[in-house]
Amino acid sequence: MANKPVKRLADYKAPAFLISALDLTFELHDTQTRVTAVSTLTKNGTDPLLRLDGEQLELVSVELDGKAVTPRFEEGQLVIEVAKDSATLKIVTQIDPTANTALEGLYRSGGAFCTQCEAEGFRRITYFLDRPDVLAVYTTKVIADKAQYPQLLSNGNLVESGELEGGRHFATWHDPHPKPCYLFALVAGDFDLLEDSFTTASGRDVLLQIFVDKGRRVQARHAMEALKFSMKWDEDTYGLEYDLDRFMIVAVDFFNMGAMENKGLNIFNAKYVLADDDTATDQDFDNIAAIIAHEYFHNWTGNRVTCRDWFQLSLKEGLTVFRDQQFSSDWAGSSATRIKEAQVIRTLQFAEDAGPMSHPIRPLEVAEMNNFYTVTVYNKGAEVIRMLNGLLGKAGFRAGMDLYFKRHDGQAVTCDDFVDAMADANDVDLSRFKGWYRQSGTPVLTVREIWENGHYGLKLSQLTPPTSDQAEKGPLPLPFAIELLGHGKDVLQLQDAEQTFALGQFDEKPILAPLCGFSAPVKLVFEQSDDELAALMEKASDGFVRVDAAERLLQRLVAAWLQGQEHPALELWLRSLHGIATRPLTDAFLDAELFKVPSVNAMQGWFEQIDLDGLVAARQRLRSQVRERLFAVLHDRYQMVKDVKEKGARALTNSLLTLLAEPLEQGVFDRYQQARNMTERQGALAAAVAGDLANSDALLADFAERFEDNPQVMDKWLMLQGQRSGALKRMGKVMEHSAFNWNNPNRTRALIGTFIATNPECHTEAGYQWLSEVLPKLDAINPQATARMVGPLLQWRRFDQKRRQGLEALLKGLQTPHTSADLGELLGKALKG
Ligand code: TRP
Ligand code: ZN
Repeated sequence: MANKPVKRLADYKAPAFLISALDLTFELHDTQTRVTAVSTLTKNGTDPLLRLDGEQLELVSVELDGKAVTPRFEEGQLVIEVAKDSATLKIVTQIDPTANTALEGLYRSGGAFCTQCEAEGFRRITYFLDRPDVLAVYTTKVIADKAQYPQLLSNGNLVESGELEGGRHFATWHDPHPKPCYLFALVAGDFDLLEDSFTTASGRDVLLQIFVDKGRRVQARHAMEALKFSMKWDEDTYGLEYDLDRFMIVAVDFFNMGAMENKGLNIFNAKYVLADDDTATDQDFDNIAAIIAHEYFHNWTGNRVTCRDWFQLSLKEGLTVFRDQQFSSDWAGSSATRIKEAQVIRTLQFAEDAGPMSHPIRPLEVAEMNNFYTVTVYNKGAEVIRMLNGLLGKAGFRAGMDLYFKRHDGQAVTCDDFVDAMADANDVDLSRFKGWYRQSGTPVLTVREIWENGHYGLKLSQLTPPTSDQAEKGPLPLPFAIELLGHGKDVLQLQDAEQTFALGQFDEKPILAPLCGFSAPVKLVFEQSDDELAALMEKASDGFVRVDAAERLLQRLVAAWLQGQEHPALELWLRSLHGIATRPLTDAFLDAELFKVPSVNAMQGWFEQIDLDGLVAARQRLRSQVRERLFAVLHDRYQMVKDVKEKGARALTNSLLTLLAEPLEQGVFDRYQQARNMTERQGALAAAVAGDLANSDALLADFAERFEDNPQVMDKWLMLQGQRSGALKRMGKVMEHSAFNWNNPNRTRALIGTFIATNPECHTEAGYQWLSEVLPKLDAINPQATARMVGPLLQWRRFDQKRRQGLEALLKGLQTPHTSADLGELLGKALKG
């Protein structure tokens, strides 16, 4: 295996050199691109040895102050001795963008050149100090064939462009804002362009440009609206204005992640730009707005103030996810928005923390940085910022943000610097709160009620179990938001391992709605009665509490079923659903969540050991109970909402259709055929697949025919192929379909990633056998994308003995001399001990 050495946060050292300016020239050719990099260097101490990172580069020449030097290589770095305090270094390298299937550095996507430099991709473009605390002013000259690549883009402002001999042309860009190299970007291609403009609060006009594949300009309109809304929102909410003359977004289909915040030139996965009613679901529209906002917000939280080192990634990502979540609740917010955020934490993040990849939101050790773009750093990081926001209040949080920018604009800083700004602006002590940055794992919050002589109170205690990376844990300060049904709301600040709170006098013991709005990323242990849970499910004013109460009931029920026993929770759950389905409709988004039977993945989070067959059977049984007992009322509600042209109604219709797929077989078929938009069509198709209806083959075939020209839509088809029962025996055929492409991570993630993450057939002998062939092939093409798919397999110790053996053999078999550093790090952790 190509193991990378582990780096530690504790070993941070300032760079030996600073680079104040970098002049780049790209002579673009499909397979032989030449990069000339001229750096203005100054010593940052006394060490005369300049050590530059570089990977997959062909070195052409090195000149120091105009004189050729012969550098040496040490541990993969280029080492140059620099005698003077400052110098000019010129390095020429050659690279092959067409052969680059890893999609890091400079590569070609659908006939266009583009770059991806975060986290450590710039070292695949030239030898450089590839670390975020080296900030330079970039000037970039791009040269390419004019007919094939009429548009030449890079960061900042366009300063010059013109014709060259041999049908070539050039453009020179200058970015006045010093930036780390991970924010560098270059794009060259032939795109359709959607333009607009935005006038900032201080009256500057900004040109807005979105570049998309030919023929798809109108599908960028929604993204453009979201961009303008984001720019206005950041001014209104945080007083933050855009700082260049133009803001560009390019949509590409070959991309490892969602999108990238390169200064002034964001590059997006096309699926987070392109949308119209016929091809995108309501959820797709919301995701696009959230990601557009996220990347735009990085201009301040990430770019103007950046990270000192990659251990601080949550400094920009946790904060920016929190900001995009705030934005989303203003933009298209519904009661389901927060519920879905909590679901990400409770299904994905809690699992990550319970497995071999457990790490604090600020990791202490990293080998391959790509592996740390995790739900922990991003989403748990956002929960930590949310707790700060709640603790300090809106005005206090804003004061902290203002101070953070005042102190650190133009700098590369740490998470401590951020929390210190929050503390100083509010004159509070946040030293204990910083524990959230150091400690991994999920606190278990145990709630005990005290009810004596008409006095009601709560005894709260917290305990974080040890994780794979960290044995010792301590208590963390956390807000516990509650409602006493009929008596109002409160937030209890738990500071210690255990604390008692008196909540007043009552005639009857009140019903407690715990953890309103998912106020802290914890697991709740609370022996509340089944009747109280049913009451919460129907009546709590907080949407998260209602969905969580339903889950807690189902958890009890499924636990009993797994032991071969019955449980009264079944009747209570059905009765509450009946109540919800027959009452006047007040919140369709929320009901859409309540009418979903939890996924097998969500159920896995309820138990330490995974009885996969038991959970699959339990889920089927829940679905059939609902159908048998509630068909009439659910069908009435379905009839009531199915033709309403409104987002919430569509969400509820899709949930009901999924629940009732089997008895409504013809209804599913009609719904699909008569769909007025993709939300309806995809919802009906998904219902057919979920119910494994006889007509699902025909519908999938029809869908592929209608949308074969649209890769983003075909990803929905690939996902359903990955999810459906009988997926494994059809894989060969699906992979031969023109919609599939081994080299495109959107395609492989949709089919193979979905299969691994959601399909129980993955956990069969044949499934493991198939993966032992597919994963090495994928890893050789694109290590980063492959490593992002295997997460569920790393949980192998939680499965039954037979699956444990199968998974262990699979993971061991993946460790070969050819395994990438990305996958190798994960396998090493999973198999350790
Ligand atoms: N910084 C990007 C974001 O907004 C994440 C990202 C995009 C990324 N592409 C990447 C991270 C490639 C690592 C590698 O969240
Ligand atoms: Zn981000």
